Amino acid sequence: MEKLVITGKTPLKGEVIISGAKNAAVAIIPATLLINGVCTIDNLPNISDVKLYCDILKDLGSKVDWITDHKVVIDNTNITSSVAPLEVTRKFRASYYLIGALLGRCKEAQVGIPGGCNLGARPIDQHIKGFEALGAEVEVSQGNITAKANVLNGTTIYMDVVSVGATINIMLASVLAEGTTVIESAAKEPHIVDVANFLNTMGADIRGAGTDVIKVKGVKELKGNAEYSVVPDQIEAGTFMLAAVASKGDIIIKNCITKHLECVAAKITEIGGKIDANGDHLRVWCDKRTKKANIKTLPYPGFPTDLQPQIGVVLSLSKGTSIINESIWESRFQYTDELRKMGANITAQGKTAVFEGVDELYGAPVSATDLRAGAALIIAGIAANGTTEIYNLKHIDRGYENIEEKFRKLGAKIERVQEEE
Ligand code: EPU
Repeated sequence: MEKLVITGKTPLKGEVIISGAKNAAVAIIPATLLINGVCTIDNLPNISDVKLYCDILKDLGSKVDWITDHKVVIDNTNITSSVAPLEVTRKFRASYYLIGALLGRCKEAQVGIPGGCNLGARPIDQHIKGFEALGAEVEVSQGNITAKANVLNGTTIYMDVVSVGATINIMLASVLAEGTTVIESAAKEPHIVDVANFLNTMGADIRGAGTDVIKVKGVKELKGNAEYSVVPDQIEAGTFMLAAVASKGDIIIKNCITKHLECVAAKITEIGGKIDANGDHLRVWCDKRTKKANIKTLPYPGFPTDLQPQIGVVLSLSKGTSIINESIWESRFQYTDELRKMGANITAQGKTAVFEGVDELYGAPVSATDLRAGAALIIAGIAANGTTEIYNLKHIDRGYENIEEKFRKLGAKIERVQEEE
């Protein structure tokens, strides 16, 4: 069993380069299924979710050639199946994009239903509503979802909740449909814009991505024959920003889109941290104890739920009482149990947590309950007195490229250690 061992109380110093966005990559890879030809994708993060998705594509007939750790050429000229490997797709959340992509390409798809996860229930009713509105028949049975259509016809779809996944999935299913599809109350996250930009580069006609109304004019074919570079990871950049503040460090974050980070930057400034944005660089530093703040997670451009655990560490150490209201996921406070083991004073109930700021956190053995919880525990370990051991690293490796190496370059004392079972 692997664990991360962190010796804390190190102010981070230096530069870090942000990788391509995980949540854009895991949508763009299945989106290639809509291309009747070859495309090249660059700036992919080197993480296990991306590798797994490319393996799923191979099962469907894709030719996948890795040119470097971050660049892949995918040839989807000969897709041989519309049935995804069911067991794998049941365990892998972002596999839901295979439904929209295969439905768009083959007019049929069978995918294992991604189950609930450690963030709580993750329904896909809005995805299904969109596919049905386009004319597909959708059946959910025996752990699988099957979608079929003779023809997909563009229409206007009013989303009942703002959903990243459903917005992207409906875009995927409608790119090759007849006529125009309008998605009302669409999500606006940077990776939605990135998937639309990718598809447009390959020959699609999508307008309005990044606003709450997206219009997709169906085209006959996506020819591909183009190269696309994935957007920098907003959440990875935000994770390092909050690590700089928690550790009272001073770092430069390179290759980020500062516009995507304005909401996090505003919160950091509110609690006493300092930010200087310069082109695609961001300097973040903090030289005093931070102050309390209240936060409610919201869809973009609001405060992202995927940075909630990381700012929870900062608020655990801030002066005064802070409150976080988590409005997206029902179980995103499991990390607070782990932080309590390190001396934090947090009371979490339902979707609200109250943080009574403490002077210090202390190293302890803790477990990463999910991806962002894992990132938060690394930040806590770097800021804490003493030694922290973090277990259950598979969650962290799913979504952060070389995380311990990037933190080590910033001066953190962090090692990956093999422990006997
Ligand atoms: N929802 C529904 N019905 C649906 C879809 C969503 O009720 O059909 C609800 C969800 O239960 C949730 C809210 O709508 O309360 C938002 O869910 P959304 O669909 O936006 O989430 P997602 O697409 O499943 C993506 C990211 C998550 C991130 C959320 C919110 C990917 C692969 N995952 O999930 O990322 O938390 O958007 O921004 O893009 C992570 O990276 O750690 C992560 C969990």
